[in-house]
Amino acid sequence: MTFSHFTVKKIVHGAGSISLAPAEVKKLGGRKAFIITDPGLAKIGVQKPLEEALSADGIEWALFDKAELEPSMDSIQACADAAKAFGADVLIGFGGGSALDTAKAASVLLSNEGPIDRYFGMNLVPHPTMPKILIPTTAGTGSEMTNISVLADTKNGGKKGVVSEFMYADTVILDAGLTLGLPPRVTAFTGVDAFVHAMESYCGLAATPITDALNLAAMRLVAGNIRQAYANGSNIAARDAMMYGSALAGMGFGNTQNGIIHAIGTTLPVECHIPHGLAMAVCSPFSVGFNAIANPEKYAVVADILRGDDRSFSMSVMERAADVEDAFRALLRDLGIQTGLANYGVKREDLPACADRAFAAKRLLNNNPRQASRDQILAMLEANFEN
Ligand SMILES: [Fe+2]
Repeated sequence: MTFSHFTVKKIVHGAGSISLAPAEVKKLGGRKAFIITDPGLAKIGVQKPLEEALSADGIEWALFDKAELEPSMDSIQACADAAKAFGADVLIGFGGGSALDTAKAASVLLSNEGPIDRYFGMNLVPHPTMPKILIPTTAGTGSEMTNISVLADTKNGGKKGVVSEFMYADTVILDAGLTLGLPPRVTAFTGVDAFVHAMESYCGLAATPITDALNLAAMRLVAGNIRQAYANGSNIAARDAMMYGSALAGMGFGNTQNGIIHAIGTTLPVECHIPHGLAMAVCSPFSVGFNAIANPEKYAVVADILRGDDRSFSMSVMERAADVEDAFRALLRDLGIQTGLANYGVKREDLPACADRAFAAKRLLNNNPRQASRDQILAMLEANFEN
């Protein structure tokens, strides 16, 4: 069997590395930088240090602050049109997953014919995209490291992905200083999402020795620092570790896929407005409990990482693997995250449709270590509705 492993071209990292953004713009031949962020971040002015650094270095810039939480096709077109009108030669995606996904998709339209939906699917983008720098402001999605942009398909409903080797960032800047202001709940949700990316990629069927190395490091960094970052948001060492953990997980799952946690978590009713990371957290314990027997060796390692303890000398592989669900619940308790779908507005009568949608998510389930039927998924949802 043969594999290919892809990743971004360059990573600039370390607390304070945002100050290097102007030099990176110039290295990409840029003179006019187009910053893409979301309205929430722009309102607080998180991007101000970036704008000031660019101005101080004589780089013209413009701000697009309309990246949508679930980017629509129209919002991508509007972003690309504004960048074109400005005469942009470099894009800077700045924010959480939605801002970065907007930047990735807009970069496609700046050197390829629109509309964006003609590129829904794998590797359909014919020409290289406009150069882009991606700067995450949360430690969670790992979107800065992947080549996929997830968009709302406003014509046919649902979400679709544009996946292309041309969408990898030219440069990623990882500056944990940008995450210091994240509230504890957001720190917890996004951090658990990063852990789930690494875990689903590590235990998944498409894992390779390369993704294993990335994902093991990612899980250790996140599990070893998420409580500290949640308890004290200004703990820069913990923030730094979380930023690296999230990025390494992105480098891992971007080359494999996620698994059943994402299959179920992303199909909870949209009207409940459950943040992505929270949905992952709620669906994790029962999913790892279900999966563990499919790959006890790997789930034993995951359980040990969650417990912060190598128990390979004192417990059997099966004992450690059987502990993975409880170990995950212990993490969520420390982070103040309740499980039980009923806590989040999901109704019992929603569950069959959730199971239908999760079972249809073949891209994710095909990487899951344990085969799951629609009825098994429904049984898990019902058993975990109130606990
Ligand atoms: Fe995720």
